[in-house]
Amino acid sequence: MKTIHVTNGPQAAPAIVLGCMRMPALTTDDAARVIQNAVELGVNFFDNATCYADGESEVRFGTALKQSGIRRENITVQTKCGLCLDRNEFDWTKETILSSVEDSLRRMKLDYLDILLLHRPDLIFEPEQVADAFDCLEKSGKVKYFGVSNVSTLQLALLKQYVNQPLIFNQLQFSLAQSQLIDQALYLNNLGTERSICRDDGILDYCRLHHITVQAWSPLQYGMFKGCFLDDPNFPELNQVLLSLAEKYHVSKAAIAIAWILRHPANMQAIAGTMNPAHLRDICEASNVALTHHEWYQLYLASGKFLP
Ligand SMILES: NC(=O)c1ccc[n+]([C@@H]2O[C@H](COP(=O)([O-])OP(=O)(O)OC[C@H]3O[C@@H](n4cnc5c(N)ncnc54)[C@H](OP(=O)(O)O)[C@@H]3O)[C@@H](O)[C@H]2O)c1
Repeated sequence: MKTIHVTNGPQAAPAIVLGCMRMPALTTDDAARVIQNAVELGVNFFDNATCYADGESEVRFGTALKQSGIRRENITVQTKCGLCLDRNEFDWTKETILSSVEDSLRRMKLDYLDILLLHRPDLIFEPEQVADAFDCLEKSGKVKYFGVSNVSTLQLALLKQYVNQPLIFNQLQFSLAQSQLIDQALYLNNLGTERSICRDDGILDYCRLHHITVQAWSPLQYGMFKGCFLDDPNFPELNQVLLSLAEKYHVSKAAIAIAWILRHPANMQAIAGTMNPAHLRDICEASNVALTHHEWYQLYLASGKFLP
């Protein structure tokens, strides 16, 4: 497995992370096999969130991890907090952050988290409260590293000003079919396409400037969980180019789609959500593919964009 450098973060992090959002659909036995298979492939980094299936995703992961026999210190466990769907609000208060971490540790039967991310911005967050919460969690040894998800440039800059720990990750949606993170730069000041509208606040370049690693969520999906674009008849041209490159590199189409994300010089991680061990094996073939500059553009254009 290709590893990436995460500034101020865990050493030699795998370029591919396993997202556990879909794990509640599995039995504990199957989930244990999914975890074992991932670790065998070098995907020893797991993403979760308090809100996935109302905590069931963390419960299933924790039980399956124990059953898998894999040692805690050999894996990286990341979870996210602050998205309080039960209350219909987002909450970054100190009290919620602290109680959320306690709940996650209890559900996963762990003593500490490697990484805690704030899931989505609380519109009325007070950075002092986040800073206090992070200090408590660091001092108690309950969390080693901190980061955010779906956070815009200025909100991230504001938060950075207050917290004492480096923010090492920003988890953002990014895939061949959902590439608004990079599109706007290409169409700047262009009245002919709505892609010229800045929807992301230049967050990717901000993260690069501040050595914050981007984790790409839903790397094979289009829309908000509309489906996987692989073999989807809505993406004929993309699937054709994926297939021809898959044949060239003797890997799967899924691997080429992930290699496209890893080829970006921002040095991102891709968070794969498959719960199918064979699919994860296919995806991990991306680790051995270095797309050329031209191939990267071929894929980008085949996904429905044009050069202005
Ligand atoms: N921060 C956020 O706001 C946020 C939001 C959403 C997700 N996430 C994170 O991102 C992770 C991944 O999200 P996701 O599950 O939507 O991502 P994804 O990897 O883009 O999509 C996974 C889905 O694609 C399917 N798929 C179909 N054919 C496949 C193939 N050949 N290879 C691989 N997969 C194939 C999978 O089915 P099979 O299982 O049958 O393979 C699965 O249903 C989540 O688990 C979560 O950790 C974060």
